[in-house]
Amino acid sequence: MCDDCDCRELAPIGELSSEHERISDLATRLRDAITSGSPDRTDALGALQAALGPHLAKEEAGLFAQLEGRPGFVWYLEQLNGDHARARSSLLSPDAAELAALEVLAALDELAEHIQSEEYDLFPASRLIFDDLAWAKVAAAHDAANTAATR
Ligand SMILES: [Fe+2]
Ligand SMILES: [Fe+2]
Repeated sequence: MCDDCDCRELAPIGELSSEHERISDLATRLRDAITSGSPDRTDALGALQAALGPHLAKEEAGLFAQLEGRPGFVWYLEQLNGDHARARSSLLSPDAAELAALEVLAALDELAEHIQSEEYDLFPASRLIFDDLAWAKVAAAHDAANTAATR
């Protein structure tokens, strides 16, 4: 996870990376349940949804909001937001439990690619371009998201 730079030292990046690790573990649990036909599939999906929904919202209110309008990042931000929209319409949809196994597995592949992109492109890029004010806004957005999640 981004070991070649010190971006994890920044608290918001470290927080998102920890969430990525948890989400990836839950995604693996869901994948294993699907491929083995285990009854754990429903619980695994619920656990992934509980972690993924707040994570997407936190990124959008934090890093994504600070990338908004920056020259050179319009295309990339569109890709990231598109990934989030697809996750919401598949893994996070109200009828996600009814999706065919292949659809869920494809959505999990997309999610894994999205996380890789954030770890290796978004996080290092943010480290390079955000100033202290931008990081303060990201941290405030994370605090608000964490407060909302515990209500
Ligand atoms: Fe994301
Ligand atoms: Fe993420």
